[in-house]
Amino acid sequence: MRANKADRTMTRSLQAAPRDAWWRNGVVYQIYPRSFQDSDGDGIGDLPGIRRRLDYLADLGVDALWVSPFYPSPMADFGYDVADYYCDVDPRFGSLADFDALVAAVHARGMKLIVDFVPNHTSTQHPWFLESRSSRDDPKQDWYLWRDPAPDGGPPNNWLSNFGSPAWTFDAASGQYYCHLFLAAQPDLNWRHPEVRVALLEALRFWLRRGVDGFRLDVIYHVVKDVHFRDNPANPGFVEGMDPVHRLLPVYTADQPEVAQVLAEMRRVVDEFSDAASARVLVAETYLPIERLGAYYGADAAGNLLGAHLPFNFHLIGTPWNAASIDALVRAYEAALPAGAAPNWVLGNHDRSRVASRTGARSARLAAMLLLTLRGTPTMYYGDELGLEDVAIEPQDVQDPFEKNQPGLGLGRDPVRTPMPWSNAPHAGFTTGRPWLRLNDDWPGRNVLAQAADDRSILQLYRRLIALRRRHPALHRGEWLPLGVEGSTLAYAREHAGERLVVVLNFGSDNAEVLERQAPAGARILLSTLLDRRGELARGSHLRPFEGWILGLQ
Ligand code: NOJ
Repeated sequence: MRANKADRTMTRSLQAAPRDAWWRNGVVYQIYPRSFQDSDGDGIGDLPGIRRRLDYLADLGVDALWVSPFYPSPMADFGYDVADYYCDVDPRFGSLADFDALVAAVHARGMKLIVDFVPNHTSTQHPWFLESRSSRDDPKQDWYLWRDPAPDGGPPNNWLSNFGSPAWTFDAASGQYYCHLFLAAQPDLNWRHPEVRVALLEALRFWLRRGVDGFRLDVIYHVVKDVHFRDNPANPGFVEGMDPVHRLLPVYTADQPEVAQVLAEMRRVVDEFSDAASARVLVAETYLPIERLGAYYGADAAGNLLGAHLPFNFHLIGTPWNAASIDALVRAYEAALPAGAAPNWVLGNHDRSRVASRTGARSARLAAMLLLTLRGTPTMYYGDELGLEDVAIEPQDVQDPFEKNQPGLGLGRDPVRTPMPWSNAPHAGFTTGRPWLRLNDDWPGRNVLAQAADDRSILQLYRRLIALRRRHPALHRGEWLPLGVEGSTLAYAREHAGERLVVVLNFGSDNAEVLERQAPAGARILLSTLLDRRGELARGSHLRPFEGWILGLQ
């Protein structure tokens, strides 16, 4: 019997998501291209710079690189304001030829390349928007969200921009407002318009044909808005001092049911380019409660997962940093996942305070062990492997529009985007020019070269963790089995095909006893976060403050 079209699609999706797909078991490393490596002395990182550093990344052991936007852009939001059909490279970052060379070089090292895709909005300088605003009769007019003013002449509703102020900007020429959930320079596309969908999906194909292995979908949960443009309700939990966007609950601007269709369409495109030998991946930016993340896998009635492969799980970033809270979080997340869904964990990114600053420098190693031993694809942020902390930026040096719009609330993201310190050459080897943001003060000691020469550095810990994770199927594909919380320690096992490893993490600032049920007799320390002990666990051994172990059982 011949398979009908739906069956064929289903088969293809299942083929594209085998248990051993690279994106299920590998480690993803995020590069913020402005800050990774400059190759031409303008103080801004670029694609040839990334290419120069690929051996470092291969040696670190990561499987895939996710590179934040490098498309033509006026840089109002440093590339998250795309100005050219999503199909070119901004000259600051290089050229399409540089991009092709990067893809080839990444693949030559056995790694994958994920690029950022920004479907919710473009730049106001994008030709689509220029056409759209040129006349109310322009065919592209409703490619964006235009509305008449409210009766009092003000914005059409109360929606707020994520960067402060109303989500509407008045356009005197047309007499209408356009919607932007981010900067006024980032008008939102109208995903209810079929031509918008076709154009954006075609842009995905453009990059797939150039060999990318997947996309990270920027604010995918915002792409569709309420069809009636209803006011968002007030947030009863809002208190002064919070990010002003939280004054309202995003009931009509986020997580609308139609987002699932958009994701399913994107997934079909990605699946067109996937086969057993080369699976492409959709990673979705989803700042959503745990109980909503499951929906973004797109399970159909038969349980096939036809949405994002990896809806980002950001909950490690916001959960209180203690054993009980982390234990509860992991249990809740594991329980919320649809059958067959690939879990994932994120410790940091270009929008949030760095992990070493959030948890305290002494906990950064513990955080690394947690990230790399939980069940699910880990995403790490460049520089976290060096224990980089947030870098204070003087008001006159602020670059981020978020901080410029709402100074002093601590919302600015420059502190987490500072240049990667490579060596003790001038400007830490990042650039021969003037870096666009200053370096971390401690760069002469905290840089790649220095840490590579130190057997006990956090960089060595990351290398060892990633290598161990790769070597042991229990760590990269095993079940996660909670062993509970005891005082300040959290313990869990990872198990696969008869192999069992135990992870014990001490979140406290005192020594912590390890119980028999956590570390049975005969257990051996395979890795300590402090990198100074291995081997059989002596009776009465204890974890030191903020120490973690991976234990092998005989
Ligand atoms: C989320 C991105 O991570 C952030 O950096 C950006 O400013 C907004 N989306 C708008 O694109």
